[in-house]
Order: sequence, then C-alpha cells, then structure tokens
Amino acid sequence: MGSPDEQAALSLLDHCSCGFMVSQVLFAACELGVFDVLAEAPELLGSDTVATRLGASSRGTELLLDACVSLKLLQVEMRGGKALYKNTELSSTYLVRSSPRSQHNMLLYLSRTTYLCWAHLAQAVREGRNQYHKAFGVPSDELFSAIYRSEDEQLQFMRALQDIWSVQGRSVMAAFDLSPFPLICDLGGDFFRDPLPDADLYILARVLHDWADEKCTRLLARVHRVCKPGGGVLVVESLLDADGRGPLTTQLYSLNMLAQTEGRERTPAQYRALLAAAGFQGVQCRATWGLYGAILARK
Ligand SMILES: C[S@@+](CC[C@H](N)C(=O)[O-])C[C@H]1O[C@@H](n2cnc3c(N)ncnc32)[C@H](O)[C@@H]1O
Repeated sequence: MGSPDEQAALSLLDHCSCGFMVSQVLFAACELGVFDVLAEAPELLGSDTVATRLGASSRGTELLLDACVSLKLLQVEMRGGKALYKNTELSSTYLVRSSPRSQHNMLLYLSRTTYLCWAHLAQAVREGRNQYHKAFGVPSDELFSAIYRSEDEQLQFMRALQDIWSVQGRSVMAAFDLSPFPLICDLGGDFFRDPLPDADLYILARVLHDWADEKCTRLLARVHRVCKPGGGVLVVESLLDADGRGPLTTQLYSLNMLAQTEGRERTPAQYRALLAAAGFQGVQCRATWGLYGAILARK
C-alpha cells in the first residue's frame, strides 16, 4: 500500500485525468434527457423504464444512471432489490430543461462546441491561438469571425449565455447603483463598426474577454468617444485574482478563451489599464457571489 502522500498524489492525478469523463457523464445525461424523464415521472423510475423512455440501451442507461448517483446528480433507492432513481435538488433546479434556473442550454453548448475545441488545447497553447480550423474545418483566416458553425449553434450559444445570466445576472446588476444612468445601452452586434447609440451608460458584458488588448482598447475608445461627460461604461467579466493564481474556474475560462476566441480573462488591474488607455476614469471594481465581477468607469 502506498504512503498517505502517494495515495493523495494518485487520487489528485485520477481526479484531474478523469475530469473529462465526469463532464461527459453530465453532458450525455443532459443530451439524452435523463433529468427530464425523471422530472416528468410521478414516481421513482427503474433504469429499464428510463431506458425505454429515452429510447436508449438498458446496459448503457444503467451505467449512466449509477455514475450520476455517484456524482450526486441523481439519488437511488433500493425497493425489493430493485434500484429506483430520482433527481437530486441540484438536478431539479439546474438540469431539468423546464426549470426556470435550468443550465441545460449552457451544458449542450459546452458539450457540442466547447468540448470539441478543448480537444486541441495543447496545440492552442503551442500556437497561442484558437484551433477552430482544426476542430471544425474552418479556414484559419476566418477563425473568430466564423465562431459559429451555423445559425443553430449561434442560437444555442445565446441560450447558453441566457441560462447563466438567469441565475447570476441579478447580483451583477446590483453591484453598483445605476440610478444616475437613466438610459442604458447593452452593447452587442458589430460594435467595432456600427455607429453606437446615445446612452448614459454602456454595458460590455462578457465581451472584452473575447478580444486581445489592442481590440479591447479600440472598442473602449469607440465607447469613450460617444459617451457623454459623466456617462460611463460597465464591464461585466469573470475576474482573475490580482496575482492571476485563481480562481481556478476563471483560469479555466481564460484557457477557454484561448481555445475558442482571441481573448483571455483578466485581473481588475488589467481592466483598469484598458479603461484608462481608452480615456475612462474613476474605475471601481466589485466582486459578486458568483462567476462575474462588475467594473464601472466614467468619462
Ligand atoms: C459572449 S457574447 C455576450 C453577449 C451579451 N453581452 C451577454 O453577456 O450575454 C459576445 C457579443 O459580442 C458580439 N460580437 C461582435 N463581434 C463578434 C465576433 N466577431 N464574434 C463573436 N461575437 C461578436 C456578439 O454579437 C455578442 O453580442
């Protein structure tokens, strides 16, 4: 038997190396509709019944359900020697498609798009740029402009963003008193080219992390030009710690930006520098309980 240190090391290695299998169990259960079938049933269901309702194999379904139990995504009760399954509170709230706080669309986007890009992470690190051309056969000169392979994928991505916002948006928007800004414009679309509308406050939510510094400065300078004196910009992003050593989720998002876009996640100081370079002042930064921080700056 190995020493406690060796056991801990192997357990950590196992945790890291099998992480993708854990994600795939969750993705497959979402894709197949496991959580929806269990939510619709008035009683707990056996794996054969779940398999029939999913139109899936008995063997595969039983293995998947039992892995979900170990991951605490499902609960099992033994009755008369038969295993019966039901959703946990987490699944009922976040994984059942019809739940108001469902993250189902986000998980489908991660499964169908992001996961494929991550298969090329080592090459993305080597080259310092995303591997869309490898993951999806897109010509390399169309990299980020061809970020969506189809209209369906674009819609899936927008639904995914909405899923996260439906849970976390309220706390982000409460981070600052926005009452001094009667007219607020949430910027989207082709903001590098199109004229920007009049507003007292411009929101750039989950936008700057898509772009390298030079393009962020160009976009912020455009916003600064149309912004009224006393007006402002609100940046919403997942923030790295000051030393860049965490949180792990944001570090992973930063790698995701490498795998999928031209950008990266940044520290509050890095956002301050970008905003200052575009002419904004009085930069204030607030964390929220969730993934995102809010940064307010004034002209
Ligand atoms: C990650 S989405 C964020 C959307 C929204 N602000 C939110 O938080 O849900 C990125 C935004 O950048 C805009 N955009 C502009 N140029 C883009 C490009 N070449 N590729 C992808 N998105 C682009 C999209 O229209 C979209 O509104």
